[in-house]
Amino acid sequence: MRTIIAANWKMNKTHAQAEAVAAEVAASLKEQPVQDREVLIFPPATSLDCVSQASQGLYETGIQNFYPAEDGAYTGEISPAMVHDAGGTWALVGHSERRHIFMEPDALIAEKVNFALAHDLKVMLCVGETLEEREADQLRTVLLRQITSGVSGQTAASVDNIAVAYEPVWAIGTGKSAGSREILEAHEIIRDILRAVFSDGESVPILYGGSVKPGNAHEILGLDNVNGLLVGGASLEAKSFLEIVRA
Ligand code: 13P
Repeated sequence: MRTIIAANWKMNKTHAQAEAVAAEVAASLKEQPVQDREVLIFPPATSLDCVSQASQGLYETGIQNFYPAEDGAYTGEISPAMVHDAGGTWALVGHSERRHIFMEPDALIAEKVNFALAHDLKVMLCVGETLEEREADQLRTVLLRQITSGVSGQTAASVDNIAVAYEPVWAIGTGKSAGSREILEAHEIIRDILRAVFSDGESVPILYGGSVKPGNAHEILGLDNVNGLLVGGASLEAKSFLEIVRA
């Protein structure tokens, strides 16, 4: 199973700042290649082009959000063709900030998953429960709903192009990562769901995200069914992101 270490820069960094971090990451990966790890950066859309160009093929890039249409009157939106044009090969779909701040419903998220895959973008589908849902014992129900609706309509052929990121909403940007027990439980549930949905569900990488730092990355990566990390705050500096890449 491959291991993916992904950076989600969210709404941070000007072009020059993005370019500087990207150059530092690429230089480090060139000097000291990582074995068995895929590195991936989701910069803001305005820097996708320069971060892709700086990669020298040492990491991949993706878009944090896009709209599922070829082109047309969708003010403010970005199409998959534009993502390809800027060198991106991945799309983040269903991030909790898209679900909760921008009110993206499961149906739109499913549409985005379908559209991205049909347009040759790999998809990282983000799922995760809120604190209220967890306290109401809704973990399995929420994950089942988010995953089955997100990948409904996908066939075995798409399995190679999908990754799932488990990001408990209460652990994102709070400085308080989920504990090992909580991560193990959620990732096992997700693996069960993926096995039920895809004959080859075993091969879909499941990443953990939520207050990942250099200090906890190694331990989290060692847990069963954890096949990578999706890092927010700690990916903004090359130094801490590279420590996580090499954790
Ligand atoms: P933090 O690592 O800042 O908690 O963010 C996690 C996240 O949302 C990555 O997509």
